[in-house]
Amino acid sequence: MDPVTPLFPTPFMHIKRLVDREMLVDMAKELENQTWFRNVHTDLLTHTEIVNPASNKMFLKLRKLVMPKVVDFGSVMFGERLKWSVKEVWVNVLHHGGHQATHSHANSFVSGVIYLTQSHQSSNIVFHRNGGGGIDFVFANSHENMEINPYNAAKWQSDDIDAGDLVLFPSYLLHGVPTNEGDKRVSIAFNAIPDQINSWGYKIKFSK
Ligand SMILES: [Fe+2]
Repeated sequence: MDPVTPLFPTPFMHIKRLVDREMLVDMAKELENQTWFRNVHTDLLTHTEIVNPASNKMFLKLRKLVMPKVVDFGSVMFGERLKWSVKEVWVNVLHHGGHQATHSHANSFVSGVIYLTQSHQSSNIVFHRNGGGGIDFVFANSHENMEINPYNAAKWQSDDIDAGDLVLFPSYLLHGVPTNEGDKRVSIAFNAIPDQINSWGYKIKFSK
């Protein structure tokens, strides 16, 4: 076949072992004192309250580690090293048999997940190409004899996610977590925004 160019790729960053063992143990201890809320779809997924990272020492420490990676990732998305802030953070606990419904994160540009435990392959985060729920008809050629490739795939699943890892993705991307066939999976999710974006002098600023 002649060369084919991937015209508009989507960035996804996987930073291995950003958080060291000692910090993971400290965070697990800290989480024992949190208040947990059940997910609207399932009892097997619980969350803490969504808070500003400045509200908690553990989240502040984590923010320090994460920020340079968000700036790197943002420079890929926007072509510039912008001034970023993490505007909200929360913790998720996914038990065996639980899942997280497909969703995206509104009013945010970069979203991330830090894993406090290893993620079983079955429950690694999945990204979806199409939103669904619109009024457009969808045509697909999907069957056992077709070959899935980056140009026709409807979804993509990350792999080898270990405790201490961080993943970053654009907030507009639809994502979810399939049924967890492994042990309890604990993760910290966050949303980040730049202070402003600039389109040929017309600036849009973001603030609290
Ligand atoms: Fe999410």
